[in-house]
Amino acid sequence: MIRRMVTNPMPQFPAGFLWGVSTSAHQIEGAADVREPSVWDVFTAEPGRVKDGSTAAVACDSYHRYHEDVALLAGLGVDAYRFSVSWPRVDSPGGLDFYDRLVDALCAAGVRPVVTLFHWDLPVALDWLERDTASRFADHVSVVAERLGDRVAKWITLNEPAEHTLLGHALGVHAPGRRLMFDALPVAHHQLLAHGLAVRALRAAGAGDIGIANSHGPTWAASEKPEDREAAEFYDLLLNRLFSDPVLIGRYPEGIGELMPGDVEADLKVIAEPIDWYGINYYAPTRVGAPQGAEIEFGGLSFPAELPFTVREIEDRPVTDFGWPVVPEALTELLTGFAGRYCDRLPPVLITENGCSYEGVDDQERIAYLDGHIRALHRAVEAGVDVRGYFVWSLLDNFEWAEGYARRFGLVHTDFETLERTPKASYTWLRDLLRAQR
Ligand code: BGC
Ligand code: BGC
Repeated sequence: MIRRMVTNPMPQFPAGFLWGVSTSAHQIEGAADVREPSVWDVFTAEPGRVKDGSTAAVACDSYHRYHEDVALLAGLGVDAYRFSVSWPRVDSPGGLDFYDRLVDALCAAGVRPVVTLFHWDLPVALDWLERDTASRFADHVSVVAERLGDRVAKWITLNEPAEHTLLGHALGVHAPGRRLMFDALPVAHHQLLAHGLAVRALRAAGAGDIGIANSHGPTWAASEKPEDREAAEFYDLLLNRLFSDPVLIGRYPEGIGELMPGDVEADLKVIAEPIDWYGINYYAPTRVGAPQGAEIEFGGLSFPAELPFTVREIEDRPVTDFGWPVVPEALTELLTGFAGRYCDRLPPVLITENGCSYEGVDDQERIAYLDGHIRALHRAVEAGVDVRGYFVWSLLDNFEWAEGYARRFGLVHTDFETLERTPKASYTWLRDLLRAQR
């Protein structure tokens, strides 16, 4: 591993390439007592929802320790920090003051703030099944932009509406814990509409440099059999294209528009409001085959028998502690595939998340994962894909949703008893990589 890096140095990325790390409010902030509750507070309070029974009431306590986090960012030498604003905190007295202080601290440290406006922590009174939530979101966005717009470098409307729909509303393993299966589709439409309205609200507030963070990964058919190929095609449509086609080309994939609520044609014009860049969160490809007539357990999820596909194991690949396969070249495949599909409709791309969960502070596996993926990213750049930045998920070990504190994605170790932060080997490795890139 070390040897390979010595004999094969990391290629140079184009000048101005943006290097960063990502987090989200609910996963790191804590200080739940000084904000309104979100659907995640309600969900985690229900027995059996979170594997280790934990909550994010304290998490990394970044609300109180943000100066330590900013110092870690400065020490790492990243250009940018992607964090999210908690909508219920913004709705609470003094909530925006916190983000104001954080943004000032980042600017003072020479780190550019990249703000996600929604990363799953919906105020409890709201519901994505309701169309009105989209306009409420646009109002929230205006409030945030008004206050922080003079210092924020980039805006991200939504984080992974696909996962929030699938995990939160179709399979019920994330908040708000609904198991609606295909009846969850309006949740996707309302989030996409919220995205478009947010773009308009940001532009109206004079804020520029706007994108979205969508999760994507190549879908590989389990075999060449028509039933496997068809199942994979459908999965790809549901988890990838359903979220990229409307934003980039103003259309739903075939058969989907009819299932969506409201005046879909008019809404698609809002959803396709031009953006400045397109954010992709990438973790792993998915192998998909025909249904097998039984409930399938996979990657910590259980997929009901009535789904028209099954997710299968990707063999002969190392897996992370989460069981996700490590397939760096699938990132090149994903990006060249995107450029081929969307051509001149694809704005510059940013990788807004990429990372892995492993135990330990001497995290050589994480170094190998990141090294492989950054090289794969460079191959996409060489192939002509206009990629402008890369953000590691995550700065700190944090509250990993339904997995609680059991999954560690950080470049920095968090001791959840003492809240002490300890940079891992991967932190030093990335710091050196960034120095060599300059
Ligand atoms: C994650 C995706 C990931 C996939 C890997 C899902 O649970 O949310 O980001 O690509 O697992 O199998
Ligand atoms: C989400 C993060 C999450 C990460 C690892 C992404 O799906 O945006 O919030 O922690 O993947 O699961």
